[in-house]
Amino acid sequence: MIPTPDLSHLTKKDYEHVYEPAEDTFILLDGLEEDAGKLRSAHPRICLEIGSGSGCVSSFVGSILGASTTLYLTTDINFHACRCTRQTGHQNKIPIDAVNASLAAPLMRRLRHAVDVLIFNPPYVPTYSDEADDAQLRADIPGAWAGGKDGMQITDVLLDQVEDLLSPVGRFYLVAVKQNDVPAIRRRMLDIYGLQSEVVLQRRAGGEHLYVIRFTR
Ligand SMILES: C[S@@+](CC[C@H](N)C(=O)[O-])C[C@H]1O[C@@H](n2cnc3c(N)ncnc32)[C@H](O)[C@@H]1O
Repeated sequence: MIPTPDLSHLTKKDYEHVYEPAEDTFILLDGLEEDAGKLRSAHPRICLEIGSGSGCVSSFVGSILGASTTLYLTTDINFHACRCTRQTGHQNKIPIDAVNASLAAPLMRRLRHAVDVLIFNPPYVPTYSDEADDAQLRADIPGAWAGGKDGMQITDVLLDQVEDLLSPVGRFYLVAVKQNDVPAIRRRMLDIYGLQSEVVLQRRAGGEHLYVIRFTR
């Protein structure tokens, strides 16, 4: 079993502004652990996590793939999250380059068809559109969950960029909930972009039915 990264350096004060790892984080870690063998054997060079929050997920991937052969890049709209991600990488001896940006915006051109492991645990909770817009602007805790219509407002934008980002052997791991309409997401990625997908894990936690979906070419 791969241990959960050490987050002991993060304080209550950090979690006032940064998403504290929860069931959605843990199902993602479990999904990545399930794929650990396949991930290692693909020898990924670039791992990009969108919305890294505490940095727990990228540090976990770092413990699967090692600190020296893979470049770990993350983005988050939340400045505090970028700081925590860097600290968590440091605490767990995984060098992480954390960029304060929306989705992959500043990296799109340079990372075209270059990302071997792409990860997003998005703000997936259905809310009014205005609430999601406001949360994106404020870039604080509500930005971690407010997902607008069907919880897909932010995810939808990334889905249209995935094919452009993935390398020929790239894998994309996405967390979703039932209200996001997982079959529709999978159909759309196949029909428009020719990406195959599989539900790696699904589980009920509290009031949520969570999924980890893996997309490949
Ligand atoms: C559900 S939290 C997940 C955090 C962490 N990856 C985890 O699994 O614990 C979603 C994260 O996405 C970030 N986020 C929201 N909208 C974003 C956007 N447009 N671009 C980048 N990050 C975003 C939030 O600030 C938050 O840190």
